[in-house]
Amino acid sequence: TDFRFDIIAYYLPILLKGTLLTIGISFAGIIFGSILGLIMGFGRMSSKWYFNLPTACYINFFRGTPLLVQVLMVHFGLIPLLLDRSDPILAAIVALTLNSAAYTAEIFRAGIQSVEKGQTEAALSLGMTRRQTMRYIILPQAIKRMIPAFGNEFIVLIKDSSLVAIIAAPELMYYANSMRGQYMRVWEPYITASIIYFILTYSLSKLLNWWEKKIN
Ligand code: ARG
Repeated sequence: TDFRFDIIAYYLPILLKGTLLTIGISFAGIIFGSILGLIMGFGRMSSKWYFNLPTACYINFFRGTPLLVQVLMVHFGLIPLLLDRSDPILAAIVALTLNSAAYTAEIFRAGIQSVEKGQTEAALSLGMTRRQTMRYIILPQAIKRMIPAFGNEFIVLIKDSSLVAIIAAPELMYYANSMRGQYMRVWEPYITASIIYFILTYSLSKLLNWWEKKIN
């Protein structure tokens, strides 16, 4: 049958406005998520049970339950509890941050543990402190190895940020849904949204490949 390019042209500016929020919440999620994930990652590697156990519970909870459910719990539970009002954009950022932290914690842990034990032993035997060993020997190598996994996490977060449309955070998927409602058409909004998501993730993966080559 017909494909209405005219309604796409008409609605595109609104979808692009949503795209800006998609980029914003994904970016905020990966930045704050990495900071929290770094803390969680170190907690997870600790030999002290009171660091190890809570962080293990945290990581398992956020990786083992649907992001969709986490988004709903933050929006209807956590944010109203803390602020006494609701705020879909804030809830979206908080949910994506909490979720991403669980994944980045494991990226940090895997990256750090991928540096051979012999290097720590060598550094310590040269008289470096544990702190210096971490800072100058382990981290520089670990960070390099973590970059592909981080890039991947960012890409996943861009796509999965579409789940926050359910709490009416006005991002790309939210506007695609409202476009469907306004015209009662399915293909035009969702194909357009797909193309926009694809452009975002594909250019990001190209950018990351280029960056990875450059630092190697
Ligand atoms: N889609 C999965 C879920 O609904 C994964 C969520 C996010 N994944 C991530 N790497 N941050 O739970």
